[in-house]
Amino acid sequence: MLQGKTILIGVSGGIAAYKAAEVVSRLRKCGAETHVVMTESATKFIAPLTLRILSANPVHLEMFEEPKLWNVAHIALAEQADAALVVPATANILAKMAIGLADDFLSTVLLAMRKQIFVAPAMNHAMYHHPATQENLACLRKRNVRTIGPAAGFQACGTEGDGRMSEPQEIVEQVMEYFSAAKCLKGKKALVTAGGTQEPLDPVRYLGNRSSGIMGYAVAQALQEAGAETTLVSAPTSIEVPAGVRPVSVTTALEMFEAVMERFAETDIIVKAAAVADYRPVDISGQKIKKQKSNLHLELISNPDILEQIGQRKTHQFLVGFAAETENLLKYAQEKMNRKNVDLLVANDVTKPGAGFGSSTNIVSFLFRDGKRIDWPKMPKIEIARQLVHEIAVMMGLEKKEE
Ligand SMILES: Cc1cc2nc3c(=O)[nH]c(=O)nc-3n(C[C@H](O)[C@H](O)[C@H](O)COP(=O)(O)O)c2cc1C
Repeated sequence: MLQGKTILIGVSGGIAAYKAAEVVSRLRKCGAETHVVMTESATKFIAPLTLRILSANPVHLEMFEEPKLWNVAHIALAEQADAALVVPATANILAKMAIGLADDFLSTVLLAMRKQIFVAPAMNHAMYHHPATQENLACLRKRNVRTIGPAAGFQACGTEGDGRMSEPQEIVEQVMEYFSAAKCLKGKKALVTAGGTQEPLDPVRYLGNRSSGIMGYAVAQALQEAGAETTLVSAPTSIEVPAGVRPVSVTTALEMFEAVMERFAETDIIVKAAAVADYRPVDISGQKIKKQKSNLHLELISNPDILEQIGQRKTHQFLVGFAAETENLLKYAQEKMNRKNVDLLVANDVTKPGAGFGSSTNIVSFLFRDGKRIDWPKMPKIEIARQLVHEIAVMMGLEKKEE
C-alpha cells in the first residue's frame, strides 16, 4: 500500500498519455497522494480536467502561472514528493532529463527532485531504438532513474515492436514494490567487491581481466536502495559510484583481500562480484621490462582466495558469490558454492551474447544451498541486482517471498 506517500506524476506528450489516467487512479486507490504535472504536448492527448479529478489535486501546467501559494511550486512539489513517475515518458522528456534541461514545469521539477524517479518510456520502436534514446536511457539509469518497460507489441502508429508503454497495473506494482522493498535492509551493513583486479608486472604493465565492474556496482546500488549501509571495494573501473555508496579503491587482489578482511567482522552482507586474479607475478620489476629476443617467462604465485577465506570465517554474515564460467556452468558453480560455503551463488556463462563482461545485461542463475535454482532471462544488470537483494532479504528473514 502507498498510504502516506506522495507521488508526483509527470505526463508527457505521447499517445499513451490516456493511460496516465489509469495510473493516477490506481495510485490513489493504493492510498497515495497524487500530484500531476503535464507538458504542453500532453494536454493535446488528455484533458487536464480528467487528471485533476482523478488525482484530486490541481494539475500543474505552466511554469509562470500566478501561484496560488507564496512558495515556488516546482521546488515545493519536488520536496514534497516521495517519488516521481513520468508516464508516459516521451523520447523528448528522456532527452531533456539526460542533459538536465529545465525549460518547462515538468523538466524543472524533475531536475529539482532528490528522491526516486521512475520513467515509463513509450514511443515508436524506431525512436526507442535510436542510439540517442538508448544513450539517454543508459545515462538516466546510471543516475539511478528506474525505467519501467517499455513492453513489446502492437503500437498506435500501426507497427509492432518494443516501445509500447507498460500496462498501468505493472507500473503501479513496480512503484509499490519500490516502497515495500525500500529500506528492508535498514540497519544492515553490506560490502560489495567489484571490478577486475590488476597485478603489476612492472611500472607500466599488469595482468588483468575483462571484468567491467557493472554487475558489482549495480549490486551496491540495489543494496543501498534497500537501506543497507553499503561499502564498495572496487578494483579500477570507469563507472561512477552509485549515490550514497562508500567507495574503497584498490588495485591488486592483495589490496582487495585486506580491504575486505578489515571490514569483515562488522559486515552483515558480503557480495563478492569482483573478478580477482588467482595469481600475481612473484617479482615486480622496478623498471619497464625491455623487449627480449628470447621468450619471457613469468613466475606467478597464488593470491589469497578471498571468497573461500570469508566462507571459512563467517559467523552471522550472509555471503553471496559470483561464478563466471565458460563451460559446465552449473556443475562448476555448484562445486564452488559448496567448497566456499556461500549462501547464494550467482552463476553466469560469460560466453552467451548479452551476458558477462562489459554488457549492461546479463543472463544468470541463482543457486541456493538447498539445491533450489532460479534461472533468469536476459535482464539489465540493475534488475538482476534488485532481484538478488530481494532474495538476500528473504533469506535473512527481512522480507516476504514474492509469489
Ligand atoms: C499523434 C502523435 C503521437 C505521438 N506519440 C509519441 C509517443 O508515443 N512517444 C513520443 O516520444 N513522442 C510522441 N509524439 C511526439 C511528441 O509529442 C513530441 O516529441 C513532443 O515534443 C513531446 O513533448 P513533451 O515531451 O514535452 O511532452 C507524438 C506526436 C504526435 C503528433
